[in-house]
Amino acid sequence: MAFDAQAVSDAAAEGISRIGKASTLEDLRAIRTQFVGSGSVMTQASKAIGSLPADQKKNAGKLMGRLRADFGRAFGAREADIRAREEAETLAAQRVDMTLPVNRKPLGARHPIAKIMEDFEDLFISMGWQVSQGPEVETEWYDFDALNFGPDHPARQMQDTFYVKGNQAKDAAGFVGSNMVLRTQTSSDQVRALISRGVPLYIVSPGRVFRTDELDATHTPVFHQCEALAVDRHLTMADLKGVLDKVAVAMFGPEAKSRLRPSYFPFTEPSAELDLWFPDKKGGPGWIEWGGCGMVNPNVLRSAGIDPDVYTGFAFGVGIERTLLLRHDINDMHDLVEGDVRFSEQFVMGE
Ligand code: DAH
Repeated sequence: MAFDAQAVSDAAAEGISRIGKASTLEDLRAIRTQFVGSGSVMTQASKAIGSLPADQKKNAGKLMGRLRADFGRAFGAREADIRAREEAETLAAQRVDMTLPVNRKPLGARHPIAKIMEDFEDLFISMGWQVSQGPEVETEWYDFDALNFGPDHPARQMQDTFYVKGNQAKDAAGFVGSNMVLRTQTSSDQVRALISRGVPLYIVSPGRVFRTDELDATHTPVFHQCEALAVDRHLTMADLKGVLDKVAVAMFGPEAKSRLRPSYFPFTEPSAELDLWFPDKKGGPGWIEWGGCGMVNPNVLRSAGIDPDVYTGFAFGVGIERTLLLRHDINDMHDLVEGDVRFSEQFVMGE
């Protein structure tokens, strides 16, 4: 094919005009194939230069160079325009309006009782203690006998304790023939843990307990306690007091402290009521009863086959509901047992 300067210039001009009208990158690519691809007029013309007489080659070459440069510049400019526009369109399409209301299913909220029991566990784990959990349906032996409750102790009477039918219980300790009860206290885990884990022992045992109380503003038949038991050589009441102050601070803030008042429990000797002091939001801080505690009664250690002349221990138990009522100034037990998510949601902050 002969070199035709007019035809190739026309072709380049048409290509450039088509570039101006292209609206997508795909269009652009098609135009490039058509006007500078292998079968195009411009490529053919470049090849034809070779067969021109020597004196025309230079001008023809220059012309081709200029046409290709014009085409390339127009192509590049248009390509940049289209890319910018497409990117802007993508960004606009993917825009997220952070102010739109979300349409998600409500997630609910964990119950404050479950959370505070975990707080107790975390605290004791941080001190190197272990978490233990006994069964809720328990033998009368672990709930009472092993803890030095006499056969006539008032707590055993039907108005306090839920008895469960079937009295041929056999447990890990091989104890047969005890009545079953819904445990009335997490102290029931003391001798269980001593038998199954041995000494030295440092356990915290949070869980559900049961008593035949009517539900009212301050009572519920199903409630929660957190028990702590340490048995080792040379433990004294000073160790107990130190741990209690630490627990008070962890649960009620840096100014909180504990106080012991002489009392009686069958499974501790000496025994004490555990009082708590912390700055009350309403002013007027005062001592409030929080739980019970004491040095483990030698008879309890004997129940677990541990020599009380070698080992001593301390224990304490606090009510979980009571802890929450005090800490959050809740006035009605109903709020804690009804399971209304709007109540639980108030405790989600700062989780
Ligand atoms: N178990 C007792 C109760 O339910 C609380 C208690 C008192 C636990 C003294 C203890 C303790 O470990 O030493 O009332």
